[in-house]
Amino acid sequence: MMLKGKKIVLGITGSIAAYKAAYLLRLFIKKGAEVQVVITPAGKEFITPVTLSALSGKPVVSEFFTANDGTWHSHVDLGLWADAMVIAPATASTIGKMAHGVADNMLITCYLSSKAPVFIAPAMDLDMFAHPSTQQNLETLRSYGNYIIEPGIGELASHLEGKGRMEEPERIIEYLEHYFGRRQSLREKKIVITAGPTYEKIDPVRFIGNYSSGKMGFALAEACAENGAEVTLITGPVALKTHFSSIHRIDVESAEEMYEAALKSFPTADAAIMCAAVADYSPEAPSDVKIKRTADDMLLRLKPNKDIAAALGQMKRDDQILVGFALETNDAVNNALAKMNKKNLDFIVLNSLEDEGAGFRYDTNKVTIIEKNGCSTEYDSKPKSEVADDIVELLSSYMQ
Ligand code: CTP
Repeated sequence: MMLKGKKIVLGITGSIAAYKAAYLLRLFIKKGAEVQVVITPAGKEFITPVTLSALSGKPVVSEFFTANDGTWHSHVDLGLWADAMVIAPATASTIGKMAHGVADNMLITCYLSSKAPVFIAPAMDLDMFAHPSTQQNLETLRSYGNYIIEPGIGELASHLEGKGRMEEPERIIEYLEHYFGRRQSLREKKIVITAGPTYEKIDPVRFIGNYSSGKMGFALAEACAENGAEVTLITGPVALKTHFSSIHRIDVESAEEMYEAALKSFPTADAAIMCAAVADYSPEAPSDVKIKRTADDMLLRLKPNKDIAAALGQMKRDDQILVGFALETNDAVNNALAKMNKKNLDFIVLNSLEDEGAGFRYDTNKVTIIEKNGCSTEYDSKPKSEVADDIVELLSSYMQ
């Protein structure tokens, strides 16, 4: 349904996986999409344009000019015509050229002219895929807002086993359906998200921290951005990267810095999601010099930090939505309810450490969402990106 009538430029490059592109093309056509194939010169060594034009019902474009009559193919027109550009398979060479704007064939010029979202399905040998230059190029392409459809792990054409096999055509179709299925429900909304842990300084080399990875907060930021929101992501120290230009990232370290940034961002926001694991206490008198070891016991006196969620809850206007998280080990629902009320939240996402695969460090999460009207929904354990989709869906319903 989602792909019906969509105009797709399918870019095919010189990889053995080009044979799968024929099947991908067939699936697109079956779904009702209109497909224009653009193939690189090397791509034609692996699959014939005759097969592709028969399947797509359109002549395949490869050169800037048609050889016999000199007709010029406009990459600009093609780039503007497309609702999406899918490059599958994408070789290391094409990925490198895309990342650096080396426009020496029709496919790359189309890519550079395209205003449509671009989906790239790499296909190559495991060592080529793992090479830092390939990874760096993919990172560059991500930072330009392109979508990388990660290759699968399995047997490669070289008979080696590893990561590099082009994702299966069915999965690529699912990926695009998911993209077009999003409702852009947060278009033009401004969302503030706190994420990650905080570090509370003890002395120049030590801090009090926690195990938060920031993955849930970053997944939320991406889900909001994919739904059209402008995101301010205030994050403690994490090893994660952001991939969308509509995510404005503010890096902070301590709870106090996070508090300052959140208070400054909230007045112009439509909603805030408090996903950070903020330290509740910090050393009362951090030392400017490294604390020396002595034979005595050591007592570290802590003072309470400000509660960011509660502060935003106090200043919240009627047209703003505030979402919190609760991490509980016992009496989870009652504790979460009490937090929601105390902090004036609209709904709270409960992670219970009583559930396996939930909370810190995992890539999955299992949550229950409790709303201020008393409604409580328990979700299955799923990847954090899908948990983020669930939260964004509920948030959107509050913001219509
Ligand atoms: N939170 C916050 N600022 C703090 C502490 C917590 O913004 N100083 C937010 C968290 O981001 C989360 C919610 O408040 O959205 C609940 O956090 P949690 O640590 O579970 O609750 P606390 O209020 O700290 O309660 P406790 O640690 O006693 O369970």
